[in-house]
Amino acid sequence: MDSQSVEAGDYKAHVFSSSAELLEKLHEKWSSVKKKPFPAMYSSVYGGIILDPAMMVLPIDDHMVHRGHGVFDTACLLDGHLYELDVHLDRFLRSAAQAKVSSPFPKSILRSILVQMTAASRCKKGTIRYWLSAGPGDFLLSPTGCPTSAFYAVVIDDDFSQRKEGVKVITSTIPIKPPQFATVKNVNYLPNVLAQMEAEEKGAAASIWVDEEGYVAEGPNVNVAFINHNKDLILPFFDKILSGCTAKRLLQLAPKLVEQGRLKSVKTSNLTVEEAKGSAEMMFVGSTLPILPIIAWDGQPVGDGKVGELTMALSDLLWDDMVAGPETQRFHVPYYEE
Ligand SMILES: Cc1ncc(COP(=O)(O)O)c(C=O)c1O
Repeated sequence: MDSQSVEAGDYKAHVFSSSAELLEKLHEKWSSVKKKPFPAMYSSVYGGIILDPAMMVLPIDDHMVHRGHGVFDTACLLDGHLYELDVHLDRFLRSAAQAKVSSPFPKSILRSILVQMTAASRCKKGTIRYWLSAGPGDFLLSPTGCPTSAFYAVVIDDDFSQRKEGVKVITSTIPIKPPQFATVKNVNYLPNVLAQMEAEEKGAAASIWVDEEGYVAEGPNVNVAFINHNKDLILPFFDKILSGCTAKRLLQLAPKLVEQGRLKSVKTSNLTVEEAKGSAEMMFVGSTLPILPIIAWDGQPVGDGKVGELTMALSDLLWDDMVAGPETQRFHVPYYEE
């Protein structure tokens, strides 16, 4: 029965009589899905890797679920290689320390679980996401009633490719998170979600946060970078925003374009909105993109309003690093069938 057309008094919530009945219902949902979007999950609550999407669930008394007391991170999976896994894991553990979430495992075991989960998924292209949570226990604020923290992870099958089309952005009217929270990759993304929705409502791809001093900050799940008319590549300082792994890698790779004489310099700096809007080129920087050219901001063209040549040169540098970079950046997942 369509629940929208039923009077509240007539609506009867079903009571599942057994877990077998519930499981059947959960499997019903997935039976028509040909390709599983999430081919594997790990849960420290289960103590293992799950391949059945119907069972990829979290306990409702987990403090990450009802209090947002958790942190997360990601890594790209390309051609069976995890890109910059260690850099992401280091940020993950830094976030966990700032959020006062202890890990149930040391870094080496977290890493091993992520690799084993990816191998078990058989997925060769997509992303992995993982969370450290205060854990299940009760519905209070304090985590003292949570006996052990929890580690969850999932593989997401995704077919992304290098972004070559330019997008439009707007300045966000949703307030930016204070530095103490913006620098931690925690699960409280409500401002980010609202900023993204605001952009979509206004026909833009994403929004840009400007901090209280009027300096450009970041996008809702991406960093921003600019090339001025002097051909300097400028990224905002990372002290009040998330320290992006892709942005940090860009800062390591971009000097190649300076050597070639295509860029003058590569630096991090404060950038006012006025300076930023007067740039020659502008781009988003983040995992999976890795660079997304921006051609208009608040209805005004950026530079000549076309995808910038240097933006695409930077995009090529990062994309090449993702698909064929050194072993230090790309970890080959030992899939079982190999
Ligand atoms: C708020 C925010 N800023 C920036 C980034 C870009 O970081 P990364 O390059 O590590 O994906 C992300 C995505 O993780 C983010 O959520």
